Amino acid sequence: MPAWLKDAVFYEIYPQSFKDTNSDGIGDLEGIIEKLDYVKSLGCNALWLNPVYDSPFKDAGYDVRDYKKVAPRYGTNEDLVRLFEEAHKKGIKVLLDLVPGHTSEEHEWFKKSCEADRNEFSDRYIWTNGAFCGIGGHPYIGGEAERDGCYMLNFFKCQPALNYGVLNKTEEWQTPCDSEAAIDTREAMKDVMRFWLDKGCDGFRVDMADSLVKEDDDKKSATGRIWTNIREMLDKDYPEAALVSEWCNPECALKYGFHADFYLDHHGNGYNVLFRDNETEGPDNSYFNKNCDEDPMRFLDDYLGRYNNSKEYGYISFITCNHDTPRCTKTMTPDELKIAYSFIFTMPGVPFLYYGDEIGMKYLDYVRTKEGGFQRTGSRSPMQWDKSLDNFGFSDAPFDKLYIPVDKDENAPSVKTCEEDENSLIHTVRDIIALRHKYEDLQADAEFKVVYAKKGERIFVYKRGDLLIAVNPGLKEVSAEIPAQDLKTNLIFKLGSADISSGNICLGAQSFAIWQ
Ligand code: GLC
Ligand code: CA
Repeated sequence: MPAWLKDAVFYEIYPQSFKDTNSDGIGDLEGIIEKLDYVKSLGCNALWLNPVYDSPFKDAGYDVRDYKKVAPRYGTNEDLVRLFEEAHKKGIKVLLDLVPGHTSEEHEWFKKSCEADRNEFSDRYIWTNGAFCGIGGHPYIGGEAERDGCYMLNFFKCQPALNYGVLNKTEEWQTPCDSEAAIDTREAMKDVMRFWLDKGCDGFRVDMADSLVKEDDDKKSATGRIWTNIREMLDKDYPEAALVSEWCNPECALKYGFHADFYLDHHGNGYNVLFRDNETEGPDNSYFNKNCDEDPMRFLDDYLGRYNNSKEYGYISFITCNHDTPRCTKTMTPDELKIAYSFIFTMPGVPFLYYGDEIGMKYLDYVRTKEGGFQRTGSRSPMQWDKSLDNFGFSDAPFDKLYIPVDKDENAPSVKTCEEDENSLIHTVRDIIALRHKYEDLQADAEFKVVYAKKGERIFVYKRGDLLIAVNPGLKEVSAEIPAQDLKTNLIFKLGSADISSGNICLGAQSFAIWQ
Protein backbone atom coordinates (compact mmCIF):
# COMPACT_ATOMS: atom_id res chain seq x y z
CA MET A 1 0.00 0.00 0.00
CA PRO A 2 1.56 3.34 -1.04
CA ALA A 3 1.88 5.29 2.22
CA TRP A 4 0.82 8.58 0.59
CA LEU A 5 -2.72 7.30 0.10
CA LYS A 6 -3.32 7.50 3.81
CA ASP A 7 -3.60 11.27 3.67
CA ALA A 8 -4.57 11.66 0.01
CA VAL A 9 -7.40 13.95 -1.04
CA PHE A 10 -8.00 13.73 -4.77
CA TYR A 11 -9.23 16.34 -7.21
CA GLU A 12 -10.79 14.98 -10.41
CA ILE A 13 -10.12 17.11 -13.48
CA TYR A 14 -12.09 16.73 -16.68
CA PRO A 15 -9.28 18.10 -18.86
CA GLN A 16 -11.53 19.47 -21.62
CA SER A 17 -13.18 21.84 -19.17
CA PHE A 18 -10.59 23.04 -16.70
CA LYS A 19 -8.44 25.77 -18.25
CA ASP A 20 -7.76 26.62 -21.89
CA THR A 21 -4.43 28.38 -22.50
CA ASN A 22 -4.30 28.52 -26.33
CA SER A 23 -7.81 29.89 -26.97
CA ASP A 24 -9.15 26.91 -28.91
CA GLY A 25 -12.04 26.55 -26.45
CA ILE A 26 -10.78 23.27 -24.97
CA GLY A 27 -8.90 22.87 -21.72
CA ASP A 28 -5.29 21.68 -21.96
CA LEU A 29 -2.37 20.34 -19.92
CA GLU A 30 -0.74 23.76 -19.75
CA GLY A 31 -3.95 24.99 -18.14
CA ILE A 32 -3.79 22.28 -15.51
CA ILE A 33 -0.15 23.18 -14.80
CA GLU A 34 -1.16 26.85 -14.37
CA LYS A 35 -3.81 25.89 -11.84
CA LEU A 36 -1.80 23.50 -9.67
CA ASP A 37 -1.45 26.12 -6.96
CA TYR A 38 -5.22 26.44 -6.89
CA VAL A 39 -5.59 22.67 -6.49
CA LYS A 40 -3.08 22.80 -3.68
CA SER A 41 -4.89 25.71 -2.05
CA LEU A 42 -7.94 23.48 -1.65
CA GLY A 43 -5.83 20.97 0.28
CA CYS A 44 -5.92 18.41 -2.53
CA ASN A 45 -2.64 16.56 -2.87
CA ALA A 46 -3.51 14.26 -5.76
CA LEU A 47 -5.16 14.53 -9.15
CA TRP A 48 -7.11 12.14 -11.32
CA LEU A 49 -7.26 13.22 -14.95
CA ASN A 50 -9.89 11.75 -17.27
CA PRO A 51 -8.27 10.24 -20.40
CA VAL A 52 -5.83 12.58 -22.14
CA TYR A 53 -4.80 10.10 -24.85
CA ASP A 54 -5.16 10.41 -28.60
CA SER A 55 -8.76 9.65 -29.49
CA PRO A 56 -11.52 10.35 -32.02
CA PHE A 57 -13.50 11.53 -28.96
CA LYS A 58 -16.73 9.70 -29.57
CA ASP A 59 -16.85 9.00 -25.83
CA ALA A 60 -14.91 12.01 -24.61
CA GLY A 61 -11.58 10.14 -24.77
CA TYR A 62 -12.74 6.83 -23.29
CA ASP A 63 -12.29 5.62 -26.87
CA VAL A 64 -8.51 5.47 -26.95
CA ARG A 65 -6.77 5.48 -30.33
CA ASP A 66 -3.22 5.50 -28.97
CA TYR A 67 -2.51 4.78 -25.30
CA LYS A 68 0.99 6.15 -25.56
CA LYS A 69 0.26 9.52 -27.10
CA VAL A 70 -1.31 12.60 -25.56
CA ALA A 71 -4.17 13.95 -27.67
CA PRO A 72 -2.83 16.99 -29.58
CA ARG A 73 -5.67 19.14 -28.28
CA TYR A 74 -4.26 18.76 -24.75
CA GLY A 75 -0.59 19.13 -25.69
CA THR A 76 2.25 16.64 -26.07
CA ASN A 77 3.74 13.77 -24.10
CA GLU A 78 6.41 16.24 -22.95
CA ASP A 79 3.70 18.51 -21.56
CA LEU A 80 2.27 15.62 -19.59
CA VAL A 81 5.71 14.78 -18.19
CA ARG A 82 6.08 18.44 -17.25
CA LEU A 83 2.72 18.27 -15.48
CA PHE A 84 3.96 15.26 -13.47
CA GLU A 85 7.12 17.16 -12.55
CA GLU A 86 5.44 20.43 -11.64
CA ALA A 87 2.79 18.59 -9.63
CA HIS A 88 5.44 16.61 -7.76
CA LYS A 89 7.31 19.81 -6.88
CA LYS A 90 4.12 20.95 -5.14
CA GLY A 91 3.54 17.61 -3.42
CA ILE A 92 0.72 16.58 -5.75
CA LYS A 93 0.44 13.06 -7.20
CA VAL A 94 -1.13 12.47 -10.62
CA LEU A 95 -3.27 9.50 -11.63
CA LEU A 96 -4.10 8.92 -15.28
CA ASP A 97 -7.20 7.11 -16.46
CA LEU A 98 -6.56 3.58 -17.71
CA VAL A 99 -9.16 2.22 -20.11
CA PRO A 100 -8.30 -1.49 -20.28
CA GLY A 101 -11.60 -2.98 -21.46
CA HIS A 102 -11.86 -1.52 -24.94
CA THR A 103 -10.13 0.75 -27.43
CA SER A 104 -11.43 3.07 -30.09
CA GLU A 105 -12.40 1.38 -33.34
CA GLU A 106 -9.60 3.54 -34.79
CA HIS A 107 -6.85 1.96 -32.66
CA GLU A 108 -4.10 0.27 -34.74
CA TRP A 109 -4.66 -3.00 -32.87
CA PHE A 110 -8.28 -3.02 -33.97
CA LYS A 111 -7.52 -2.14 -37.59
CA LYS A 112 -5.14 -5.11 -37.71
CA SER A 113 -7.68 -7.28 -35.96
CA CYS A 114 -10.21 -6.50 -38.71
CA GLU A 115 -7.95 -7.87 -41.45
CA ALA A 116 -8.99 -11.06 -43.21
CA ASP A 117 -5.52 -12.62 -42.91
CA ARG A 118 -4.48 -13.84 -39.50
CA ASN A 119 -1.92 -11.68 -37.70
CA GLU A 120 -0.60 -10.82 -34.26
CA PHE A 121 -3.77 -8.87 -33.40
CA SER A 122 -6.41 -11.28 -34.72
CA ASP A 123 -7.35 -12.36 -31.19
CA ARG A 124 -6.77 -9.02 -29.44
CA TYR A 125 -10.54 -8.40 -29.64
CA ILE A 126 -13.51 -10.75 -29.24
CA TRP A 127 -14.58 -12.11 -32.62
CA THR A 128 -17.03 -14.83 -33.59
CA ASN A 129 -16.12 -17.14 -36.43
CA GLY A 130 -18.63 -15.87 -38.97
CA ALA A 131 -20.16 -12.61 -40.12
CA PHE A 132 -23.57 -14.21 -39.56
CA CYS A 133 -22.63 -15.66 -36.16
CA GLY A 134 -23.67 -13.12 -33.53
CA ILE A 135 -23.02 -13.01 -29.77
CA GLY A 136 -25.75 -13.79 -27.24
CA GLY A 137 -26.08 -11.46 -24.28
CA HIS A 138 -23.62 -8.82 -25.52
CA PRO A 139 -23.78 -6.03 -28.09
CA TYR A 140 -21.83 -6.80 -31.25
CA ILE A 141 -21.22 -5.58 -34.80
CA GLY A 142 -21.16 -7.65 -37.98
CA GLY A 143 -20.43 -6.82 -41.60
CA GLU A 144 -18.02 -3.93 -41.01
CA ALA A 145 -14.72 -5.72 -41.46
CA GLU A 146 -13.15 -7.83 -44.18
CA ARG A 147 -12.71 -10.50 -41.60
CA ASP A 148 -15.45 -13.12 -41.54
CA GLY A 149 -16.72 -12.54 -38.02
CA CYS A 150 -18.65 -10.28 -35.64
CA TYR A 151 -16.91 -8.38 -32.84
CA MET A 152 -18.12 -7.62 -29.33
CA LEU A 153 -18.66 -4.08 -28.06
CA ASN A 154 -17.95 -2.95 -24.53
CA PHE A 155 -19.90 0.31 -24.36
CA PHE A 156 -20.68 2.52 -27.37
CA LYS A 157 -20.44 1.35 -30.99
CA CYS A 158 -16.98 2.95 -31.25
CA GLN A 159 -15.58 0.80 -28.40
CA PRO A 160 -14.78 -2.83 -29.38
CA ALA A 161 -14.06 -5.04 -26.35
CA LEU A 162 -10.49 -6.20 -25.83
CA ASN A 163 -10.09 -9.94 -25.45
CA TYR A 164 -9.21 -11.17 -21.98
CA GLY A 165 -10.94 -14.48 -22.73
CA VAL A 166 -13.83 -16.23 -20.99
CA LEU A 167 -13.88 -18.19 -17.74
CA ASN A 168 -15.85 -21.12 -19.14
CA LYS A 169 -15.67 -21.65 -22.86
CA THR A 170 -19.02 -22.62 -24.38
CA GLU A 171 -18.57 -21.41 -27.98
CA GLU A 172 -15.98 -22.55 -30.44
CA TRP A 173 -14.83 -19.00 -31.18
CA GLN A 174 -14.22 -18.08 -27.50
CA THR A 175 -10.72 -18.05 -26.04
CA PRO A 176 -10.12 -19.20 -22.46
CA CYS A 177 -8.91 -16.59 -20.00
CA ASP A 178 -5.59 -18.41 -19.59
CA SER A 179 -4.95 -18.63 -23.35
CA GLU A 180 -1.98 -16.95 -24.96
CA ALA A 181 -4.22 -14.37 -26.64
CA ALA A 182 -5.82 -13.35 -23.33
CA ILE A 183 -2.45 -13.10 -21.64
CA ASP A 184 -1.09 -11.02 -24.53
CA THR A 185 -3.86 -8.48 -23.97
CA ARG A 186 -3.05 -8.27 -20.27
CA GLU A 187 0.65 -7.85 -20.98
CA ALA A 188 -0.11 -5.14 -23.57
CA MET A 189 -2.04 -3.23 -20.90
CA LYS A 190 0.82 -3.64 -18.42
CA ASP A 191 3.14 -2.26 -21.08
CA VAL A 192 0.92 0.84 -21.35
CA MET A 193 1.01 1.25 -17.57
CA ARG A 194 4.79 0.92 -17.43
CA PHE A 195 5.12 3.47 -20.24
CA TRP A 196 3.43 6.19 -18.15
CA LEU A 197 4.72 5.08 -14.76
CA ASP A 198 8.25 5.31 -16.15
CA LYS A 199 7.48 8.88 -17.21
CA GLY A 200 6.44 9.85 -13.68
CA CYS A 201 2.73 9.14 -13.38
CA ASP A 202 1.65 8.00 -9.91
CA GLY A 203 -0.93 5.40 -10.83
CA PHE A 204 -4.27 4.92 -12.51
CA ARG A 205 -7.97 5.21 -12.07
CA VAL A 206 -9.21 2.14 -13.92
CA ASP A 207 -12.26 2.39 -16.15
CA MET A 208 -14.86 -0.43 -15.95
CA ALA A 209 -12.35 -2.51 -13.99
CA ASP A 210 -14.77 -5.35 -13.26
CA SER A 211 -15.61 -6.42 -16.78
CA LEU A 212 -12.42 -7.61 -18.46
CA VAL A 213 -13.10 -11.35 -18.62
CA LYS A 214 -16.48 -12.06 -20.20
CA GLU A 215 -18.73 -14.83 -18.82
CA ASP A 216 -16.91 -14.49 -15.48
CA ASP A 217 -18.40 -15.88 -12.23
CA ASP A 218 -20.36 -13.78 -9.71
CA LYS A 219 -17.24 -12.80 -7.83
CA LYS A 220 -15.48 -11.88 -11.08
CA SER A 221 -12.62 -14.10 -10.04
CA ALA A 222 -11.05 -14.43 -13.50
CA THR A 223 -11.04 -10.65 -13.92
CA GLY A 224 -9.70 -10.49 -10.36
CA ARG A 225 -6.73 -12.69 -11.26
CA ILE A 226 -5.70 -10.16 -13.90
CA TRP A 227 -5.68 -7.36 -11.33
CA THR A 228 -3.79 -9.47 -8.83
CA ASN A 229 -1.18 -10.07 -11.50
CA ILE A 230 -0.99 -6.35 -12.29
CA ARG A 231 -0.74 -5.49 -8.61
CA GLU A 232 2.22 -7.87 -8.34
CA MET A 233 3.95 -5.84 -11.04
CA LEU A 234 3.25 -2.63 -9.13
CA ASP A 235 4.38 -4.01 -5.78
CA LYS A 236 7.61 -5.19 -7.34
CA ASP A 237 8.51 -2.32 -9.66
CA TYR A 238 6.33 0.65 -8.70
CA PRO A 239 5.46 0.27 -5.00
CA GLU A 240 4.41 3.93 -4.74
CA ALA A 241 1.90 3.71 -7.59
CA ALA A 242 -1.81 3.64 -6.79
CA LEU A 243 -4.61 1.73 -8.47
CA VAL A 244 -8.20 2.95 -8.04
CA SER A 245 -11.09 1.01 -9.52
CA GLU A 246 -14.37 1.93 -11.07
CA TRP A 247 -16.00 -1.21 -9.70
CA CYS A 248 -18.15 -0.27 -6.68
CA ASN A 249 -17.59 -3.59 -4.99
CA PRO A 250 -14.71 -3.12 -2.54
CA GLU A 251 -15.04 -6.66 -1.19
CA CYS A 252 -13.93 -7.90 -4.62
CA ALA A 253 -11.88 -5.03 -6.02
CA LEU A 254 -9.67 -4.48 -2.96
CA LYS A 255 -9.04 -8.18 -2.40
CA TYR A 256 -7.94 -8.58 -6.00
CA GLY A 257 -5.38 -5.81 -5.72
CA PHE A 258 -6.88 -2.35 -6.05
CA HIS A 259 -5.80 0.11 -3.39
CA ALA A 260 -9.11 1.97 -3.49
CA ASP A 261 -12.53 1.43 -5.03
CA PHE A 262 -15.15 4.08 -5.81
CA TYR A 263 -18.46 4.18 -4.00
CA LEU A 264 -20.47 5.09 -7.11
CA ASP A 265 -23.94 6.48 -7.60
CA HIS A 266 -25.81 3.23 -8.21
CA HIS A 267 -29.53 3.46 -7.71
CA GLY A 268 -30.51 2.50 -4.16
CA ASN A 269 -27.02 1.88 -2.78
CA GLY A 270 -25.65 3.57 0.34
CA TYR A 271 -23.99 6.38 -1.58
CA ASN A 272 -27.05 7.10 -3.69
CA VAL A 273 -29.42 7.35 -0.70
CA LEU A 274 -27.22 9.98 0.91
CA PHE A 275 -27.09 12.46 -1.96
CA ARG A 276 -29.13 11.48 -5.00
CA ASP A 277 -32.20 9.51 -3.97
CA ASN A 278 -34.21 11.54 -6.45
CA GLU A 279 -33.73 9.74 -9.74
CA THR A 280 -37.21 8.22 -9.75
CA GLU A 281 -40.67 9.76 -9.36
CA GLY A 282 -41.72 10.82 -5.88
CA PRO A 283 -40.13 12.83 -3.10
CA ASP A 284 -36.36 13.34 -2.73
CA ASN A 285 -35.43 11.14 0.21
CA SER A 286 -31.69 11.77 0.16
CA TYR A 287 -30.35 11.91 3.72
CA PHE A 288 -28.60 15.24 3.06
CA ASN A 289 -31.76 16.88 1.71
CA LYS A 290 -32.73 19.32 4.47
CA ASN A 291 -36.45 18.89 3.85
CA CYS A 292 -36.89 15.14 4.24
CA ASP A 293 -37.21 12.88 7.29
CA GLU A 294 -34.58 10.31 6.34
CA ASP A 295 -32.36 8.65 8.91
CA PRO A 296 -28.86 7.32 8.14
CA MET A 297 -29.95 3.66 8.40
CA ARG A 298 -30.29 2.91 4.68
CA PHE A 299 -26.79 4.24 4.16
CA LEU A 300 -25.35 2.26 7.06
CA ASP A 301 -27.10 -0.97 6.06
CA ASP A 302 -25.25 -0.84 2.76
CA TYR A 303 -21.97 0.76 3.81
CA LEU A 304 -21.05 -1.10 6.99
CA GLY A 305 -20.79 -4.50 5.33
CA ARG A 306 -18.72 -3.08 2.49
CA TYR A 307 -16.43 -1.26 4.93
CA ASN A 308 -15.98 -4.08 7.44
CA ASN A 309 -15.36 -6.71 4.78
CA SER A 310 -12.83 -4.68 2.85
CA LYS A 311 -10.98 -2.39 5.25
CA GLU A 312 -8.08 -4.75 5.79
CA TYR A 313 -7.38 -4.76 2.04
CA GLY A 314 -7.74 -1.12 1.02
CA TYR A 315 -9.94 1.93 0.82
CA ILE A 316 -13.42 2.92 -0.22
CA SER A 317 -13.48 6.21 -2.13
CA PHE A 318 -16.33 8.63 -1.48
CA ILE A 319 -16.84 11.16 -4.28
CA THR A 320 -18.55 14.53 -4.36
CA CYS A 321 -19.48 13.67 -7.95
CA ASN A 322 -17.76 12.56 -11.15
CA HIS A 323 -17.97 13.11 -14.91
CA ASP A 324 -20.74 10.49 -15.26
CA THR A 325 -22.98 11.64 -12.41
CA PRO A 326 -25.27 14.67 -12.03
CA ARG A 327 -23.73 17.28 -9.79
CA CYS A 328 -25.38 17.41 -6.37
CA THR A 329 -26.38 21.03 -7.06
CA LYS A 330 -29.10 19.60 -9.27
CA THR A 331 -31.10 19.23 -6.07
CA MET A 332 -28.98 20.55 -3.20
CA THR A 333 -28.21 24.06 -1.97
CA PRO A 334 -24.75 25.23 -0.86
CA ASP A 335 -25.83 24.96 2.80
CA GLU A 336 -26.80 21.34 2.30
CA LEU A 337 -23.54 20.72 0.46
CA LYS A 338 -21.47 22.11 3.35
CA ILE A 339 -22.87 19.38 5.60
CA ALA A 340 -22.64 16.68 2.94
CA TYR A 341 -19.00 17.45 2.08
CA SER A 342 -18.03 17.66 5.75
CA PHE A 343 -19.34 14.12 6.03
CA ILE A 344 -17.49 12.95 2.88
CA PHE A 345 -14.15 14.39 4.00
CA THR A 346 -14.38 12.87 7.47
CA MET A 347 -15.08 9.33 6.31
CA PRO A 348 -12.47 6.55 6.08
CA GLY A 349 -10.78 5.81 2.76
CA VAL A 350 -9.61 8.15 0.03
CA PRO A 351 -12.02 10.96 -0.94
CA PHE A 352 -12.40 12.58 -4.37
CA LEU A 353 -13.53 16.14 -5.05
CA TYR A 354 -14.87 16.72 -8.58
CA TYR A 355 -13.66 20.00 -10.13
CA GLY A 356 -16.08 22.84 -9.54
CA ASP A 357 -17.94 21.09 -6.73
CA GLU A 358 -15.99 23.23 -4.26
CA ILE A 359 -17.82 26.31 -5.55
CA GLY A 360 -21.15 24.62 -6.13
CA MET A 361 -21.06 24.67 -9.93
CA LYS A 362 -24.46 23.84 -11.37
CA TYR A 363 -25.56 20.77 -13.27
CA LEU A 364 -26.51 22.31 -16.64
CA ASP A 365 -29.47 20.24 -17.75
CA TYR A 366 -29.98 22.32 -20.92
CA VAL A 367 -26.62 21.84 -22.67
CA ARG A 368 -26.47 19.76 -25.82
CA THR A 369 -24.65 16.47 -25.73
CA LYS A 370 -20.93 16.68 -26.44
CA GLU A 371 -18.69 13.80 -27.51
CA GLY A 372 -20.97 11.05 -26.28
CA GLY A 373 -21.78 12.78 -23.01
CA PHE A 374 -25.61 12.92 -23.33
CA GLN A 375 -27.08 13.70 -19.90
CA ARG A 376 -23.56 13.51 -18.45
CA THR A 377 -22.64 16.66 -20.39
CA GLY A 378 -24.39 18.81 -17.79
CA SER A 379 -21.70 17.89 -15.23
CA ARG A 380 -18.82 18.59 -17.62
CA SER A 381 -19.13 22.34 -18.26
CA PRO A 382 -16.11 24.69 -18.05
CA MET A 383 -14.63 25.57 -14.69
CA GLN A 384 -15.77 28.98 -13.44
CA TRP A 385 -12.69 30.87 -12.33
CA ASP A 386 -13.58 34.53 -12.39
CA LYS A 387 -16.96 35.99 -13.15
CA SER A 388 -15.55 39.32 -14.32
CA LEU A 389 -13.64 37.66 -17.18
CA ASP A 390 -15.00 36.34 -20.49
CA ASN A 391 -16.14 32.73 -20.16
CA PHE A 392 -15.36 32.94 -16.44
CA GLY A 393 -11.66 32.98 -17.27
CA PHE A 394 -11.84 29.43 -18.62
CA SER A 395 -10.92 30.44 -22.18
CA ASP A 396 -10.38 33.44 -24.43
CA ALA A 397 -12.17 31.71 -27.29
CA PRO A 398 -15.53 33.13 -28.44
CA PHE A 399 -18.49 31.69 -26.49
CA ASP A 400 -19.70 29.62 -29.47
CA LYS A 401 -16.27 27.95 -29.79
CA LEU A 402 -16.21 26.59 -26.25
CA TYR A 403 -16.09 22.81 -25.81
CA ILE A 404 -19.27 23.03 -23.72
CA PRO A 405 -20.94 26.41 -23.03
CA VAL A 406 -20.17 28.02 -19.68
CA ASP A 407 -23.04 28.44 -17.22
CA LYS A 408 -25.08 31.44 -18.40
CA ASP A 409 -26.89 32.05 -15.12
CA GLU A 410 -26.08 35.49 -13.76
CA ASN A 411 -25.90 34.02 -10.26
CA ALA A 412 -23.43 31.31 -11.29
CA PRO A 413 -20.61 31.05 -8.75
CA SER A 414 -16.93 31.50 -9.57
CA VAL A 415 -13.79 30.81 -7.58
CA LYS A 416 -13.25 34.55 -7.21
CA THR A 417 -16.76 35.37 -5.94
CA CYS A 418 -16.71 32.40 -3.57
CA GLU A 419 -13.35 33.33 -2.16
CA GLU A 420 -14.63 36.85 -1.45
CA ASP A 421 -17.70 35.58 0.40
CA GLU A 422 -16.65 34.24 3.77
CA ASN A 423 -19.84 32.17 4.07
CA SER A 424 -19.38 30.34 0.80
CA LEU A 425 -18.87 26.64 0.24
CA ILE A 426 -15.23 26.84 -0.82
CA HIS A 427 -14.21 27.93 2.67
CA THR A 428 -15.93 24.94 4.24
CA VAL A 429 -14.20 22.66 1.73
CA ARG A 430 -10.81 24.16 2.54
CA ASP A 431 -11.42 24.06 6.30
CA ILE A 432 -12.56 20.46 6.46
CA ILE A 433 -9.79 19.20 4.17
CA ALA A 434 -7.21 21.12 6.22
CA LEU A 435 -8.58 19.48 9.35
CA ARG A 436 -8.31 16.07 7.70
CA HIS A 437 -4.62 16.68 7.03
CA LYS A 438 -4.11 17.87 10.60
CA TYR A 439 -5.72 14.92 12.38
CA GLU A 440 -4.65 11.40 11.50
CA ASP A 441 -7.96 10.25 12.97
CA LEU A 442 -9.76 11.87 10.02
CA GLN A 443 -7.57 10.19 7.39
CA ALA A 444 -7.94 6.95 5.45
CA ASP A 445 -7.07 4.38 8.11
CA ALA A 446 -8.58 5.47 11.42
CA GLU A 447 -11.40 3.22 12.58
CA PHE A 448 -14.99 4.24 11.80
CA LYS A 449 -17.58 3.47 14.46
CA VAL A 450 -21.27 4.28 14.63
CA VAL A 451 -22.10 5.95 17.95
CA TYR A 452 -25.72 6.97 17.41
CA ALA A 453 -28.02 6.19 14.47
CA LYS A 454 -31.69 5.31 14.86
CA LYS A 455 -34.59 4.60 12.57
CA GLY A 456 -36.72 7.73 12.15
CA GLU A 457 -34.08 10.08 13.61
CA ARG A 458 -32.13 12.62 11.58
CA ILE A 459 -29.10 12.86 13.85
CA PHE A 460 -26.09 10.70 13.06
CA VAL A 461 -23.11 10.44 15.40
CA TYR A 462 -19.92 8.53 14.57
CA LYS A 463 -16.35 8.23 15.67
CA ARG A 464 -13.17 8.32 13.67
CA GLY A 465 -10.41 7.05 15.89
CA ASP A 466 -10.71 9.23 18.98
CA LEU A 467 -12.72 12.02 17.38
CA LEU A 468 -16.46 12.32 17.88
CA ILE A 469 -18.47 13.62 14.90
CA ALA A 470 -22.15 14.58 14.72
CA VAL A 471 -24.36 15.50 11.77
CA ASN A 472 -27.79 17.04 11.48
CA PRO A 473 -28.74 17.68 7.84
CA GLY A 474 -32.32 18.68 8.74
CA LEU A 475 -34.06 21.90 9.77
CA LYS A 476 -35.18 20.85 13.25
CA GLU A 477 -33.01 20.79 16.35
CA VAL A 478 -31.96 17.27 17.33
CA SER A 479 -30.19 15.60 20.22
CA ALA A 480 -28.65 12.28 21.18
CA GLU A 481 -27.27 10.74 24.33
CA ILE A 482 -23.68 9.62 23.99
CA PRO A 483 -22.31 6.67 25.99
CA ALA A 484 -19.66 7.82 28.46
CA GLN A 485 -16.83 5.89 26.78
CA ASP A 486 -17.42 7.73 23.48
CA LEU A 487 -17.80 11.20 24.92
CA LYS A 488 -15.42 13.98 23.79
CA THR A 489 -15.93 17.61 24.72
CA ASN A 490 -13.27 19.72 23.05
CA LEU A 491 -14.94 21.24 19.96
CA ILE A 492 -12.53 21.48 16.99
CA PHE A 493 -14.91 22.10 14.05
CA LYS A 494 -18.44 23.39 13.75
CA LEU A 495 -21.06 24.35 11.17
CA GLY A 496 -24.35 25.70 12.53
CA SER A 497 -24.76 25.18 16.26
CA ALA A 498 -23.52 22.33 18.41
CA ASP A 499 -23.49 21.75 22.16
CA ILE A 500 -22.48 18.93 24.36
CA SER A 501 -23.43 18.75 28.03
CA SER A 502 -24.08 15.97 30.53
CA GLY A 503 -23.39 13.37 27.88
CA ASN A 504 -25.93 14.85 25.52
CA ILE A 505 -25.22 16.24 22.03
CA CYS A 506 -27.57 18.93 20.79
CA LEU A 507 -27.36 20.10 17.17
CA GLY A 508 -29.25 23.02 15.67
CA ALA A 509 -30.65 23.07 12.14
CA GLN A 510 -28.12 22.05 9.43
CA SER A 511 -25.23 21.48 11.79
CA PHE A 512 -22.07 19.44 11.83
CA ALA A 513 -19.45 19.23 14.58
CA ILE A 514 -16.27 17.44 15.57
CA TRP A 515 -15.02 17.02 19.15
CA GLN A 516 -11.64 15.83 20.33
C1 GLC B 1 -16.70 4.61 -17.55
C2 GLC B 1 -16.39 6.08 -17.70
C3 GLC B 1 -17.35 6.67 -18.68
C4 GLC B 1 -17.17 6.00 -20.01
C5 GLC B 1 -17.33 4.47 -19.88
C6 GLC B 1 -16.82 3.74 -21.10
O1 GLC B 1 -17.92 4.40 -16.95
O2 GLC B 1 -16.42 6.73 -16.45
O3 GLC B 1 -17.22 8.06 -18.79
O4 GLC B 1 -18.10 6.47 -20.95
O5 GLC B 1 -16.61 3.97 -18.79
O6 GLC B 1 -15.43 3.79 -21.17
CA1 CA C 1 -6.73 24.63 -25.39
